[in-house]
Amino acid sequence: MANIPPSGTLKMFEIASKLEAEGKKVYHFEVGQPDFPTPPNIIKSGIDALNDGFTKYVSSRGVPALLDAIEGFYGRRGISIDGRKNLIVTPGAKMALFQGFLSAIDIGDDVLVLSPAWPTYRVMIRTAGAKPVDVPTSVVYELDEEALKSAATKTVSALVINSPNNPTGGVLQESQMRLIYDLAVDHDFAIFSDEIYEALVYDGLSQTSMLEVDPSMEQSIVISGFSKTYSMTGWRLGFAVGNEEVIENMVRIQQNTTSCAPSFAQMAGVEALCGDQSSIKSMVDSYSQRRDKMVAGFRDMPEVTCEIPLGAFYCFPDFSKYGLSSNTLAELLLIKTGVTTAPGKVFGDMWDGHLRFSYASSLSVIEEGLAKVKEFLETLD
Ligand SMILES: Cc1ncc(COP(=O)(O)O)c(C=O)c1O
Repeated sequence: MANIPPSGTLKMFEIASKLEAEGKKVYHFEVGQPDFPTPPNIIKSGIDALNDGFTKYVSSRGVPALLDAIEGFYGRRGISIDGRKNLIVTPGAKMALFQGFLSAIDIGDDVLVLSPAWPTYRVMIRTAGAKPVDVPTSVVYELDEEALKSAATKTVSALVINSPNNPTGGVLQESQMRLIYDLAVDHDFAIFSDEIYEALVYDGLSQTSMLEVDPSMEQSIVISGFSKTYSMTGWRLGFAVGNEEVIENMVRIQQNTTSCAPSFAQMAGVEALCGDQSSIKSMVDSYSQRRDKMVAGFRDMPEVTCEIPLGAFYCFPDFSKYGLSSNTLAELLLIKTGVTTAPGKVFGDMWDGHLRFSYASSLSVIEEGLAKVKEFLETLD
């Protein structure tokens, strides 16, 4: 653990808590979770499951009804998986990633991470005894083919991608996914494809799954879950899809660590995947409106540049013209205006000019908060 740096956002959290305790208004743009309640049909099925006795340990791989539901979910996208061989249900996508890293990478390996990237990957990779190596993309997460090719050395055993991406909202195009896959085959490294934001894409776009590119799952482990799509962060429900060997290893880790994902939550997951999907559409519509409002707000700030995110619920504007580190800027913003953000540096050293703003908050909070940011930036000019 001595090699694991403390969380880059802890200090911000402490300042925000202190401001709130003093009765000051804080605008929470740092959050990584939907602000919507879990849809009522899903809550009801969780309660029903508790009443029906889903209060015990269940199979470490997952309850059969949920394995079938996830198989069906991919089947509707034209992706064929065997839920009893290629799938494990975990307490959140985080646990699926961690088990996947422990199963597929060795101590001393290099693991490439397309950057900017959610900081948890690097911590997990280090905890598994390997070394994370950032490979830069563009600010909208477009692949830099040359950078990736030159990073793909002999010591690399895996690559982590995340589309739609946290923090940029960028979505990898199918051609880029194919290029990544071809390189993985040539250099024989595993691809961890974190697809947790797969349903949150805008402007009529659709996300490409690594399972469409690598249907045999020889090279890839796909991770997803219920936290973001169904606003179920606290239920702790995620899953991984991969070849039989790697999934079997993950099942053995799960048997000896968390045992299983919460059983009643798994039954709620069946309803999430098989029940009414209309609340998902309305959440996606809301995010899309909020995104437009947030991007327009940043574009109204003369020294700030902000690309349009195509997915997830984050904007990653560039403040580098102000010449401040992202930690300093984030702290100043919080103390002076009550606006809490995630400093760009936590997503990779080269992103220090940026701040991540989540738009999982109401239109009025976005409007008020961004007005405060604009006012504050004018004092820096
Ligand atoms: C990219 C990414 N992957 C995974 C997760 C974690 O998902 P879960 O709640 O299913 O553990 C998050 C949460 O913020 C995330 O941003």
